[in-house]
Amino acid sequence: MAAINSSKGVHEFVRVRRLRYGKCFKTKLFRETHVFISRTKSAKAILNNEVGKFSKRYIKSIAELVGPNSLLCAANGHHKMIRGRLSSFFSTSNLSSFVSQFDELVVEALNSWDTADIVVIQHEALKITCKAMCKMLISMENGHELEMMQKEVAHICEAMLAFPLSLPWTRFSKGLQARKKIMAILQKAIEDRRNGAGTCHKDFLQLLLAENDAVTTLTDSEIQDNILTMLIAGHDTTACAMTWMVKFLDENKEVLEKLVKEQLQIANKLKPSSYLTLELLNEMRYASKVVKESLRLASIVQWLPRLALNDCEIEGFKVKKGWNINIDVRSIHLDPSVYDCPDMFNPSRFQAESIPYSFLAFGMGGRTCLGMNMAKAMMLVFLHRLTMTYKWKVIDSNSSIEKWALFTKLRSGCPVRLTSIKSLSI
Ligand code: HEM
Repeated sequence: MAAINSSKGVHEFVRVRRLRYGKCFKTKLFRETHVFISRTKSAKAILNNEVGKFSKRYIKSIAELVGPNSLLCAANGHHKMIRGRLSSFFSTSNLSSFVSQFDELVVEALNSWDTADIVVIQHEALKITCKAMCKMLISMENGHELEMMQKEVAHICEAMLAFPLSLPWTRFSKGLQARKKIMAILQKAIEDRRNGAGTCHKDFLQLLLAENDAVTTLTDSEIQDNILTMLIAGHDTTACAMTWMVKFLDENKEVLEKLVKEQLQIANKLKPSSYLTLELLNEMRYASKVVKESLRLASIVQWLPRLALNDCEIEGFKVKKGWNINIDVRSIHLDPSVYDCPDMFNPSRFQAESIPYSFLAFGMGGRTCLGMNMAKAMMLVFLHRLTMTYKWKVIDSNSSIEKWALFTKLRSGCPVRLTSIKSLSI
């Protein structure tokens, strides 16, 4: 609890114990045994389910907030079925249309910053990613509804690490109330679609309702839990990553210069009045390394939780069935035996081949982040438009982490002073 409440973030609890007990250690959390591991070899074995069998398990508060049918928490068989159904939405052709839609949102947002001297990147990035997710998932575009959705999702995210005590005044209870409100909105959206309203939308909800395979049709609660999951997994994480990226670039001017050079070449290829395409994103080789390095250094998701289904042995440790195994992503990302000068922001490090299972920002194996390519695309689009529109100076360089945050979030929100390079109007 002290770590959750500290400015060093919840990972401090793990870091201190890792220094004291080594790369694999066992501790008690909420009366359960947790093993933390931070060797790439063990990460590979666990993520590929080589040693014995593992399933996914989040702590009780997270599991209750995302719901029993969420892909994030579903156990192996159920997970395979739901993942199969949701994957079709993440095809290359859907990603292509998403890129131009997202670019349109970013251009609009960055245009609106023109009159502001200072903007808080975290707040702005959250607005952009929430808008993008709500449009992609349920074609929600109304300003008031979007604001409400963002507020409720924030309540859920804040409750993720709370003690799961459901009394009216608790953080956890606020999260559950927010979940209830979002579930009601989603239920209404499902009913409207069944009654013929909005069926022209090419969104995630429509895709799930339209696929009518009797063997794998998802129930309404499976659809609701997984739309909420996408909102939580896709919007807060990506906004946090964008914010860190802006901070790292401000602190590393040589990287920024090299990036701007590349982005100018991309801008020259972009036809006037048109939006970015997936093909153009694929040409952003240096920017992709900037994205990857930002994700490594920030480690937005700090560990990957698993459940041991059998007794087994990891790094000489006897693990009992039912214990929680956490792959300590942040420690792997910052391990000097894995990355040279791990605290340095150096995108060019990814020119060389990296050690297998050393980059775990999106996980690996059967539970790899489903929205990985979408997240990278959002970060690239944002980078392109930001560098081609503004110069910025971070005015609060404090690196403290937001309290009660499951994802690594800058407490300052990263306020920046902007200077416009050119008008963005398309
Ligand atoms: C920078 C942004 C993002 C980061 C850092 C991130 C990271 C992760 C990580 C670490 C996992 C867990 C992997 C594991 O436990 O092995 C995960 C799972 C997941 N993510 Fe992401 N994610 C991001 C964006 C997104 C987006 C944009 C979406 C969708 C719109 C998304 C959807 C999901 C889903 C559905 C899962 C569960 C996959 C499964 O269990 O099969 N994520 N993500």
